[in-house]
Amino acid sequence: MRRKVIAGNWKMNMLPNEAISFIEQITPLIKDTKNEVILCVPYTDLFYSLLTAQNTNIKIGAQNMHWEEKGAYTGEVSGQMLKSVGVEYVIIGHSERRQYFAETDETVNKKVKTALANELKPIICIGETLEQREQGKAEEVITKQTMLALEGISKEQMKNIVLAYEPIWAIGTGKTATSEDANNSIKWVRNKVEELYGKEIADEVIILYGGSVKADNAKELFSTTDIDGGLVGGASLKVDEFSKIVLV
Ligand code: 13P
Repeated sequence: MRRKVIAGNWKMNMLPNEAISFIEQITPLIKDTKNEVILCVPYTDLFYSLLTAQNTNIKIGAQNMHWEEKGAYTGEVSGQMLKSVGVEYVIIGHSERRQYFAETDETVNKKVKTALANELKPIICIGETLEQREQGKAEEVITKQTMLALEGISKEQMKNIVLAYEPIWAIGTGKTATSEDANNSIKWVRNKVEELYGKEIADEVIILYGGSVKADNAKELFSTTDIDGGLVGGASLKVDEFSKIVLV
């Protein structure tokens, strides 16, 4: 049985004092959950969040990193830097980074490799646009993104990878994919993983759904056969809402 993973993606929100207060408030509410809980916070919140989350069941992740180990890349943050403060997870290839910051399948793949080399666990995002879905190309798009993100990744390394299917048209729009559509898309991704790595790895790999996950739709989404939890944006900014999603 795969574990359930509930990851919050705070995006460019929350100051350090807000991060500390959020973690302090949510800790007692979710302390008994069996689900894995991750908060992917802005760089400036990492250190404070890691300190506040010590001795809790909350894990801390970053939202991006650079693919080079070090060097003249003004403004960038390396995998080694994330590892050095105690970060465990890092989101790679979020559609907002693909859309606004020229992230490509190639840079995603490079970042995945550097993350793994630094013992960080990548949460790799994939997902189609509305146009692609309407043209019947969703399967082709997301299986290709999956294949390219995982190029050169070994079976052993797959154990430290989480995939997140986030249809772009469902992000921040209030439009959730139906649980059936989301589950089908995630099955396509799992089939691709099976084709590349075999059934055992495909049965083990955690694949999340993201896109307007809320307390009132989480249960239906997470009780499908193939959705292993959520990557939650807006609803992860509110203690009450996010704790309900963790506890579904
Ligand atoms: P929303 O939950 O706000 O739609 O965002 C989803 C997302 O992009 C998580 O990475």
